[in-house]
Amino acid sequence: MRLTPALEDIVAYEPGQPIELVMRRFGLSEVVKLASNEFPQPPFPEVREAIVAAIGELNRYPDGDSTDLRAALAAHYGVGPGQVAVGAGSCELLMLLGDVLLEPGDEVVFADPSFVVYNDICLVHGATAVKVPLADFAHDLDAMVAAVTPRTKMVIVCNPNNPTGTYVPVEGIARLVAAVPDDVLVVVDEAYNEFVTAADSQDALKLQATHENVVVLRTFSKIYGLCGLRVGYGLGPEELRQAFDKVRQPFNVNRLAQAAATEALKHQDQVAGRRDENARLRAGMVAALAARGRATVPSEANFMLVRTRDLRHPHDEVCGVLLSMGAIVRDGNALGCPGWARVSVGTQSEIDFFLQQLAALEVDAPQDVQGR
Ligand SMILES: Cc1ncc(COP(=O)(O)O)c(C=O)c1O
Repeated sequence: MRLTPALEDIVAYEPGQPIELVMRRFGLSEVVKLASNEFPQPPFPEVREAIVAAIGELNRYPDGDSTDLRAALAAHYGVGPGQVAVGAGSCELLMLLGDVLLEPGDEVVFADPSFVVYNDICLVHGATAVKVPLADFAHDLDAMVAAVTPRTKMVIVCNPNNPTGTYVPVEGIARLVAAVPDDVLVVVDEAYNEFVTAADSQDALKLQATHENVVVLRTFSKIYGLCGLRVGYGLGPEELRQAFDKVRQPFNVNRLAQAAATEALKHQDQVAGRRDENARLRAGMVAALAARGRATVPSEANFMLVRTRDLRHPHDEVCGVLLSMGAIVRDGNALGCPGWARVSVGTQSEIDFFLQQLAALEVDAPQDVQGR
């Protein structure tokens, strides 16, 4: 077997550790997972019913064109069904973007740090990742424009950004779109868009309506609580969706996922409720940490960076210690944010558990609650 040399530079995606495994490994009875930016509540009741109803059909392949789901998304966003691409999570759509656009020597501009998959799709195709450092944890859109060269095929803006949770107003992205050549695809990854509560909250869909070189990626994994089913979507030029159709696997979105996502879309009132609840919990978490002098990076998403310096342990050991205490969070050191942990907004009790475990690691924590 002769694997492609490109694989040598690619590190396999490291998912957050499963709760059951952490319980067994450390002999714990309580473990909370705040490491994968999942939504802490199960899918909407109506969605669960739709999933159960679809189970009886699992002996049949799903609709390979995801016709009903794409029609529902098209109607919801006021675009043509031909402009809607769906995938097994928006991750699949990112990988398809690599497949249909990238050749060795091409360049892709994105922020650093940002979502790890952007780098991977470059490596797989021998393209050059042009990483533009964040400025004060947020996208430096001017620097990203300046990084575009004749070899640039794609510019990716992650909004809000993973792992920092920061958000750029759509006007900034509009200026970026206006400044880059028409043959450069601008990908706006809005996996966390539904959580945004900023006063100037807007999405990039209006840019897509007026620019053929813009694609907006969204997902059912986050606010809809359906990451276990893997379904995401892209709204963009029809030509791009047709290109995806040539290379994607034939039945890329499974039957349960199609049924669940189509139903989920009908419940925007519940989406709004989840947005409000996330914002309330997010604000409470920030306030609780601030009260003990612990910094966070202002976030518009369902996660935030929490400072891990000035604790009892060196910052690059803190997340390992928290893991052993039952709080699974993501070590920022592995995500390009040394000295920070990326922590998802869980339920109130999950947040309280995390705050309690973290408090035990504070240098002035009383000895009897001191973390290991
Ligand atoms: C910024 C960003 N984009 C895309 C995704 C992919 O989500 P999914 O493949 O579950 O739709 C994630 C997942 O965490 C993400 O953080």
